Amino acid sequence: METKTKIALVTGGSRGLGRDMVLNLAKNGNNIIFTYHTNAIEADKVVAEVLALGQKAIAYPLDTSKVDTFDTFVGKVSQHLREHEGSPNFDFLINNAGTGVYGSVTDTTEEAFDNMMNIHFKGVYFLTQKLLPTLNDGGRIINISSGLTRVSFPNVSAYASMKGAIETYTKCLAKELGPRKITANCVAPGAIATDFGGGSNKSDEGKRNAIASITALGRVGEPEDIGGVVAFICTPEAGWMNGQRIELSGGMMV
Ligand SMILES: NC(=O)c1ccc[n+]([C@@H]2O[C@H](COP(=O)([O-])OP(=O)(O)OC[C@H]3O[C@@H](n4cnc5c(N)ncnc54)[C@H](OP(=O)(O)O)[C@@H]3O)[C@@H](O)[C@H]2O)c1
Repeated sequence: METKTKIALVTGGSRGLGRDMVLNLAKNGNNIIFTYHTNAIEADKVVAEVLALGQKAIAYPLDTSKVDTFDTFVGKVSQHLREHEGSPNFDFLINNAGTGVYGSVTDTTEEAFDNMMNIHFKGVYFLTQKLLPTLNDGGRIINISSGLTRVSFPNVSAYASMKGAIETYTKCLAKELGPRKITANCVAPGAIATDFGGGSNKSDEGKRNAIASITALGRVGEPEDIGGVVAFICTPEAGWMNGQRIELSGGMMV
């Protein structure tokens, strides 16, 4: 019996962790829809990489902080799926897109706080809500959190608080969506060498050494440490994992 190819929707799939998630999901035989914010050139490269792996891919621009644009986005995705897959439905939602802001409790502005809230919490909440009608029963939701919900460092309060909210939201999703056999889990990466937060996890040797020194496996994480686990959560073998926070930090401050 032929099994239907599953479809994953990844936000922020053009670079960093999201790109690695997209490629690993494609390697596992899934077709891909992903979003980018402004970097269409990088998004096009990722589409080409997925096509080379033999899976379908399309990229859409989306600012996940702008809830008022979500209906239009969801409409476009549904139309694409109807035309190319025969139904508006998809299987896996990975809420990954995001940026970092560093600032002390004293210095964080209301604008910076609102930006973190809109991207990392409100955007994830309402994008998920608007996609739920077309997420297949038996599907998966994976929300990307952070190691910073378990351990604390100075200057991350707004960002880390939003990630904490996402972990609570994920447990609520798991509970409410159980009747539809949809699981919801968080993946919480430690410090990973991407462009995130100005790219200091890639370029700041002092910071990299400090991270390595508090990490059991003795190095900074790479995007390739994350995407394969996200793809695994979308396999049938991971179907009993639900409402969990899976930290991928190489053993940071264990
Ligand atoms: N790197 C780390 O150390 C680390 C650790 C823990 C958690 N995380 C989380 O992992 C996720 C991905 O981070 P990353 O390290 O891969 O970052 P990244 O390399 O900077 O990539 C960010 C991705 O998100 C997109 N994006 C940025 N702002 C957006 C917005 N307002 N609306 C929609 N999309 C937006 C970017 O699109 P463009 O390419 O178009 O700009 C890009 O695809 C984030 O949720 C982050 O909080 C990262």
